[in-house]
Amino acid sequence: MQKQKVAYVCGDCAYESSKWLGCCPGCSAWNTFEEQQPSVVITAKSAKRMPPAQLFATDAISDTEKSRLISGVSEWDRVVGGGILPGSFLILTGDPGIGKSTLLLQVADKIAASARVFYFSSEESLAQVKGRAVRLGLASSKILFSEERSVERIIASIEAEKPDLVVIDSIQSCFLAASSDATPGSITQLREAAFALMESAKSTSTSILITGHITKVGTMAGPKLLEHMVDGVFYLQGEEYWQTRILRSVKNRFGTINEVGFFQMEEHGLAEVTDINRRLLEEATFAPGSTLICSTEGTRPLLLEAQALCIESKFGSPQRVITGTDHKRVVLIAAILEKYLHIKLSCQDIFFKVSGGVFVRESSCDLGIALALLSSYFQVPLPTKSLALGELSLTGHIKPATRASAMAKEAIKFGITTILTAEGASLPSSKQIIQLKSVYDLLRLFPEK
Ligand code: TYD
Ligand code: MG
Repeated sequence: MQKQKVAYVCGDCAYESSKWLGCCPGCSAWNTFEEQQPSVVITAKSAKRMPPAQLFATDAISDTEKSRLISGVSEWDRVVGGGILPGSFLILTGDPGIGKSTLLLQVADKIAASARVFYFSSEESLAQVKGRAVRLGLASSKILFSEERSVERIIASIEAEKPDLVVIDSIQSCFLAASSDATPGSITQLREAAFALMESAKSTSTSILITGHITKVGTMAGPKLLEHMVDGVFYLQGEEYWQTRILRSVKNRFGTINEVGFFQMEEHGLAEVTDINRRLLEEATFAPGSTLICSTEGTRPLLLEAQALCIESKFGSPQRVITGTDHKRVVLIAAILEKYLHIKLSCQDIFFKVSGGVFVRESSCDLGIALALLSSYFQVPLPTKSLALGELSLTGHIKPATRASAMAKEAIKFGITTILTAEGASLPSSKQIIQLKSVYDLLRLFPEK
């Protein structure tokens, strides 16, 4: 017996509900619920009528895997996990106008030098694409372009020609004529189109790279659903301060996640920013309230400035305004300092941010956060050109950071002279190392108080 399940799904965040709702409980968007076609649930009994799946022993599986498509744009290649794996299905998403089409055209052009690349521009006309190509200096690119919007016809080209890479810009402006929901751009269409493309990618070993829009709440429109299906999800985001574009991997079946790449939008397209640590360090002030921390984003250590501002609270409940790291983490570190050092941080408003538009997660930044808070509280700067590396335990002990050695090496390369760290951390010996055993030792760094 087959059961049928009716559901309504939010087109913005993929929240599911059995009833239609005006306002989505998931993302608070209005009128975003769409009816889903009833999904068929296969029971054990009905599955019995199907032929069983084929199974293989390891040595019976052929391992002639094609090599990855490397573009030579090193920031892109690193973020996608060392080049695009053949047969993978990837999505690049970001705000309109952020530079998705520009980036893809540049990357596709480089790949086209040694592979067959089809570029389906479903959003822009061929004349517009040509205009962009000319602007980017790619007028004689080897890419083959099309403005086809029908998913069926795109798949037919893939099956017939078996190119190495297919770019579809964007998936939301394509349509699937055979879809069970005829509305172009609906989530049913999106899901079915993605599924059909993925099947085609796997069967032909063609890599497919699609773009998708982002909604105002910052999630991929509709395709939270797609996030589960695709092999990799990449976000291109803007960073206000330097006008940089940050490419992030948030899901990657064939590479590391949380990897970041930096670009800058220039007159002739996106230029790679390969010396980001030098630029980050130039910005660091080493003023009271500022510390240098190091966070490994994906595989690369980034030198970031943590800035804290502690100021006596004028209202009943003190404010905690925290960006660039987990809110609770700063609150916890403030609590540890208050408990052991008897500093009344609970009567202070705390503002905290991290430079570079990066969100730090690593516990090796704990010591730096603590020092930034203390430095602002006492209004005493830390030693110039110093880097803080260490984890903080709830008992007030400072522990060596994992990967401390690689982080210290990167910092020394850019002129950092002092490393503030835990006792027993193994670091390159040539630099001045200030060893701190517990939070009590932190007060030594603020002698005037
Ligand atoms: P685009 O790649 O069209 O963005 P998306 O596909 O994400 O919507 O980028 C559009 C913006 O980039 C637009 O504001 C113009 C700017 N731009 C440049 O500054 N330099 C360039 O060489 C190009 C091609 C675009
Ligand atoms: Mg575009």
